[in-house]
Amino acid sequence: SVADVRASLRLQMTVSNCRRSILNLQHASSACCAPRRSLARCNSTALSSALHFYQNRQLELYAAKETKRLTLRQLIFYGRSMTEQRLIMAANYVRSELPIRIAHRLRDMQALPYIVVTQEEVARVYELYWSAFDKFRAFPPIKTMADNLKFCKVVRSLLDEHASIIPSLILGLSLSSHHLEPEELDSFITRMLVSRISRRVLAEHHIALTEDFLRDSNKDSDPNRTAPTPHVGIINTELSPRRSIEKCAELLRTSPRNVVFADPERAMEMDLDCPSVVIDGHVETKFAYIRDQLEYIIFELLKNAMYATSIQHPDSNRLPDIHATIATGRDEIQLRISDQGGGLMQPEISSPSDLLSFSHARNRTRLDTSRLTALKSVSSRPQGMRATVNEQIEAWKEDNGGLNTPERKAGVGVHTRLGIGLPMSNIFATYFGGSLELVSLDGWGTESPYSLLSALGTTLEGI
Ligand code: COI
Repeated sequence: SVADVRASLRLQMTVSNCRRSILNLQHASSACCAPRRSLARCNSTALSSALHFYQNRQLELYAAKETKRLTLRQLIFYGRSMTEQRLIMAANYVRSELPIRIAHRLRDMQALPYIVVTQEEVARVYELYWSAFDKFRAFPPIKTMADNLKFCKVVRSLLDEHASIIPSLILGLSLSSHHLEPEELDSFITRMLVSRISRRVLAEHHIALTEDFLRDSNKDSDPNRTAPTPHVGIINTELSPRRSIEKCAELLRTSPRNVVFADPERAMEMDLDCPSVVIDGHVETKFAYIRDQLEYIIFELLKNAMYATSIQHPDSNRLPDIHATIATGRDEIQLRISDQGGGLMQPEISSPSDLLSFSHARNRTRLDTSRLTALKSVSSRPQGMRATVNEQIEAWKEDNGGLNTPERKAGVGVHTRLGIGLPMSNIFATYFGGSLELVSLDGWGTESPYSLLSALGTTLEGI
């Protein structure tokens, strides 16, 4: 009856308010205990409730504000003609926008079941966000270039501090997967990741604009400086997908064998080479985009294609080629990676889209011990997950103790997959309005059409 529904809604709201209060109380007490130890010594309940009330009030003020999202085109146009005054305006935009975006996510975390947010890794992420929120709130308006440089320093240190958030979050939520419905879990993680990408893009773009501005102001002092690749902040304005594909294929060719071969011992014995990547279509295409994001996706798709091909052709002395097609339409650029790796169907999943899910109910491999252990080890590294493909390769080489001997090049044992690459690629693809699909031609191979934004760059970024 309507009365029952109302009663149940009231109950739900009370439960969610309780959760929020417990979290805030917990946060208030930890805030008392950590940086403000002298206050904590007062040990007064009144102080704790006042702090709790104050902090929650601040969070609410920020969470009630709408984010001001930008398009790729706006980021480029604004950054193209930089003056000190415009740079200071940009700094103030970032200073006020980041705490709003973080407040929304803190609110989201407060709405999780209590058992999830108190899980060690999730709680760590929550604390990191609270601390960043406090730092941004405390930063005074930026009026001079010197203020901006101080601001860039704070932002840089937060970017570094947050480097291991993704593996921590994925680990914490994988372990809590039983407490959330698959849709709830996936949409929560997607919001967290999209929002994180959006904050890091704003932060890194602003730091890059500041560095470029300083360099351009001093350009007469360094006559030997080589011309940089055309860019505005972190956006490469003449990015060639062909060159990015070639670079990723080459990096994979020289990576440890266990990254691209299911049987690295045989690959080494037979001196097997990785499948070649044949590039066709509109190979001369150039467009404006963030290089690291494009290469992250291409690298992930090629890595999976090579690995699947090596499984599907275990006795082959030459693995079938992988095809990468570039198509430039009026509003859209598309890339398609096609392999002969047998398709995507695995016993653990019932549809290719399950590969993008973080829920154990959709993808049983989420709870594999090897995967959880690898996530734990990456989340406890200060540098976390490497952001660029070059750094990723370096990390694998370090894991294999360097690549100086052929044995080491083979990699030690099986390379553990974190299971983050494909879902992250999907999120990067949709970030500026593109899409990533996985089409399985069962028994033959996989096609991964990847559409890259409206070529006009007018889609609003993230959330
Ligand atoms: C993140 O990496 O999650 C951030 O929020 C970065 C931001 C604090 C600069």
